[in-house]
Amino acid sequence: MYILGMESSCDETSAAVVCAENGRLEIVSNIVASQIETHRLYGGVVPEIASRAHIEAITGVTTEALSQAGITLPEVSAVAVTAFPGLIGALLVGVNFAKSLAYANSIPLVAVNHIKAHVAAVYLREDAPEAPFLALVVSGGHTSLFDVTAPTDFREIGATRDDAAGEAFDKIGRVIGLPYPGGAALDRLAATGDKHAIKLPSPALGADTLDLSFSGLKTAALNYINHCNQQNIPVPRADLAASFTEAVVGGIAKKVEAALLKTGRKTLVMAGGVAANSHLRARLGALCKRLGVTFAVPPLSLCGDNGAMVAAAGFFEYQNGNFATPALNASAQDLPAL
Ligand code: KG4
Ligand code: ZN
Repeated sequence: MYILGMESSCDETSAAVVCAENGRLEIVSNIVASQIETHRLYGGVVPEIASRAHIEAITGVTTEALSQAGITLPEVSAVAVTAFPGLIGALLVGVNFAKSLAYANSIPLVAVNHIKAHVAAVYLREDAPEAPFLALVVSGGHTSLFDVTAPTDFREIGATRDDAAGEAFDKIGRVIGLPYPGGAALDRLAATGDKHAIKLPSPALGADTLDLSFSGLKTAALNYINHCNQQNIPVPRADLAASFTEAVVGGIAKKVEAALLKTGRKTLVMAGGVAANSHLRARLGALCKRLGVTFAVPPLSLCGDNGAMVAAAGFFEYQNGNFATPALNASAQDLPAL
């Protein structure tokens, strides 16, 4: 069967066709229209501009996804759409488009949780892992640990209490003059610096919790930059990028290790935009090796927002009979039901 996946929760408009056959999920097409260049001018995503750009892109992106897949709408068994969480105006574009498409063509509609979709990207690997596993979702909007017992069953066991890891990377990147979004550029810059040069606080909270907090780390880095500016000392950008990355990666690794030991899970899945970070991949890879745990990350091209991961998550909701009605609405917040 073919699933059409649609994504518009932030600054990427995407549609993809995924084929599900004999328990295997395979990408047939995956079209992503990024708005990054538009938002770069403002140093971050401007929600109203994002909504308008989604409206402009969504028809073309969907037509292209179907055309590249070589299929027509009557061959689509389900339309899966990200309904939450995300920017409300942006989500509404995808949800209303998907609802109309499904209703007009009598195709079942499935609502998808964006966070679960990031994790579902891992099922698009050739050697897809099987639940149960521990999932770390690290993106621009989320940093959470989930005990996953089935593709649709997630229990949050730890999370950031304030900023997300991606948000923290982007903020520091912006302050040291990197183009938006700073995450990928900071990743490269960090590789050229000394990670022990600047002492920064860990985002890992106390031993009694699996939660993290990035606000103190962010403030400490900003204070360091202000101090350099006040003293007329050039900010050692590469050392700061390396030290900041070390604090983020070290803090996350600490909580991941605690979560693996607590749950006893033998597989770790890492997903979301920040899962592309080379330092985090290397650190968690080494941690898993030491603990004898299988480490699974989606292909780099599927770490950021895309329709294929939505189609993959939608397939499992479809299998469970979780269909949406034309009354489906978008929500900026995560919904406890999904
Ligand atoms: O998952 P995503 O595409 O969107 C959300 O759902 O938030 O994640 C985007 C985030 C941005 O903050 C971006 O800077 C970050 O992922 N990111 C990275 C890297 N590549 C993207 N952060 C650190 N290192 C990277 N290589
Ligand atoms: Zn995302």
